[in-house]
Amino acid sequence: MKEKVLEELKKVFYPGKTHSVVQEGIIDDVVIEGSKVIVKIKTKEKNQAVIDMLKRSIPLTLKKLDGVEDVELQIEKIVDEQEKKVADIKYVIATTSGKGGVGKSTVSVNVALALAKFGYKVGLLDADIYGPNIPTMMGIEGVPVTLDPNNKDKILPIVKYGIKVLSIGNLVPKDAAIIWRGPLVSQAVDQFLKDVSWGQLDFLVVDLPPGTGDAQLTLAQKTKVSGGIIVITPQNVAMSDAMKAHDFFKRLNIPVLGVIENMSYFICPNCGARTDIFDHGGARRFADEYGLTFLGEIPIDVEVRVGGDRGKPIVVSNPTSPVAQAFEDVARNIIEKVKASK
Ligand SMILES: Nc1ncnc2c1ncn2[C@@H]1O[C@H](COP(=O)(O)OP(=O)(O)OP(=O)(O)O)[C@@H](O)[C@H]1O
Ligand SMILES: [Mg+2]
Repeated sequence: MKEKVLEELKKVFYPGKTHSVVQEGIIDDVVIEGSKVIVKIKTKEKNQAVIDMLKRSIPLTLKKLDGVEDVELQIEKIVDEQEKKVADIKYVIATTSGKGGVGKSTVSVNVALALAKFGYKVGLLDADIYGPNIPTMMGIEGVPVTLDPNNKDKILPIVKYGIKVLSIGNLVPKDAAIIWRGPLVSQAVDQFLKDVSWGQLDFLVVDLPPGTGDAQLTLAQKTKVSGGIIVITPQNVAMSDAMKAHDFFKRLNIPVLGVIENMSYFICPNCGARTDIFDHGGARRFADEYGLTFLGEIPIDVEVRVGGDRGKPIVVSNPTSPVAQAFEDVARNIIEKVKASK
């Protein structure tokens, strides 16, 4: 009878796959108790919809066998590698902004480097699948990823300036015109987390794609973000984008660590006079209004842009400059906020 049941199980497709539940390797054992069949399943499947489908399809098929009256499924869920890996990362921070071009990647890079400077183990994940620019900013463009010698199924992040970095830009050819759709996005991110040997990290900084749509939601969910950072520019019009970013984290139940105002003001390199090019202080007003922490303001400085273009971020290239100091202040405020929230 057991053989018959196993034969029959080979006809049950694994939901979403082209092979059977037997080939999927989830059938641990089959026990026959009179007219009752007990199917023991061990699975890493996290998608409840798939489990529900199995609960329907397996009994339906087996009950067609002569002598089978009752089918019981005993499902044991195995905690998979991915969760253990993510558990090795103490704090996942995601940066977002309602719209593009506000300096989200610049902030991600420099804050990650500042955190590392304070002695933390830091990873930087460029999850901006639409326009990965972290490789350029970190000077790792075209650097191929290598396999982990201790685990050939995993890839090693690239180590640069003392932090571990990985970008979709290092996995696909530059300028590959890929139109990423929801399921692809979520697969790519799954892979980032499962198949990358991040090792132990205190912080993983995730640079999300601009915007607050479905792809961004999926990404933030998948990466199990523990705290979010909103980057905004000081113009009044930027406030509606900040609100979108705020709602985005709220929808996902991700606590907002705080707000950063980028390109906050300009200090003339010749005379030292300060100009508030885009107005100033909007982020602080926004933070106050929504009861959020104001994490700091970063001046606009040509050295920041040049550092980004040349692959040597300002926190590394000119650590004593006021802008680098501003990034360090932001990093300090983040650490304080994280410690207070634990
Ligand atoms: N504080 C700053 N001072 C001067 N230039 C800056 C500053 N912050 C960012 N930039 C420059 O502005 C441009 C946009 O910044 P960045 O790429 O970080 O923005 P983003 O929000 O990540 O954009 P995208 O939406 O394209 O991902 C870059 O050229 C960057 O070097
Ligand atoms: Mg960016």
